[in-house]
Amino acid sequence: MKITHTINEVKTCVREWKKAGLSIGLVPTMGYLHEGHASLIERARKENDKVIVSDFVNPIQFGPKEDLATYPRDFDADCKLCESLGADLIFNPEPAEMYSDTFHSYVGVNTLSEGLCGKSRPIHFNGVCTVVSKLFNISEADRAYFGQKDAQQLAIVRRMVRDLNYNIEIIGCPIIREEDGLAKSSRNTYLKADEREKATILHKALTKGEEMVRDGEKDAKAVISAVSDMISSEPLAKIDYVDIVDWNELQEVEKIEGPILMAVAVYIGSVRLIDNFIVE
Ligand code: PAF
Repeated sequence: MKITHTINEVKTCVREWKKAGLSIGLVPTMGYLHEGHASLIERARKENDKVIVSDFVNPIQFGPKEDLATYPRDFDADCKLCESLGADLIFNPEPAEMYSDTFHSYVGVNTLSEGLCGKSRPIHFNGVCTVVSKLFNISEADRAYFGQKDAQQLAIVRRMVRDLNYNIEIIGCPIIREEDGLAKSSRNTYLKADEREKATILHKALTKGEEMVRDGEKDAKAVISAVSDMISSEPLAKIDYVDIVDWNELQEVEKIEGPILMAVAVYIGSVRLIDNFIVE
């Protein structure tokens, strides 16, 4: 596996692979890889001749009061995992390699970025779209792999690709969970022991909500209040949002009819966690 830190190194490999007619799968990550990322790399490995994993904590998707400085990092462990999963190249640029002093171009998807996490993280998705655009261009990938855990991100990236005619297929992959149901996330590492235990409330409440929807409940408010009540029963939990939106436009729905996303963001102590389910 090649370890690269510059855009030029990646482009040199990509040029060779393209010349040989090989397909490329990209797994964009911010590092501190866990089984969720591993599932994306494994899928990319199965479906492409070459696999690139980007490992970059993207500063422009963090708000001024967010955890950029403390975001967990372990590049050596990431390299070992990627190598063991058969990745061909890991791309780990410095911020200055991605954003020069004269960087002025941003990509954004309106409307879809405004609700859910966009309410409390107003610059987040423009930062994501911008870095993902750069990674698509640098890697010239045929396919890119994103987890459904970040469902809003997945919907936004899909829309960006459609709207801006990127020549890449976006593959959404299922949420990978701990045995007790907590969705895997690099940020789970911030949880203290008692918080870690209580964090299972997100999955428990969403499971209840999903049961209601699958049993035919059509009133979004009824599902939202059942899920909210269950989360609020946990004293360490503070709700940021509990929402049901249509899975295409990410707009709030009153009546559950077509495909929907139910998504929650909840603080457990000071740690903000997200989770969701989709009913197609
Ligand atoms: O999901 C993430 O880890 C990040 O938002 C991504 C897609 C790698 C962009 O920085």
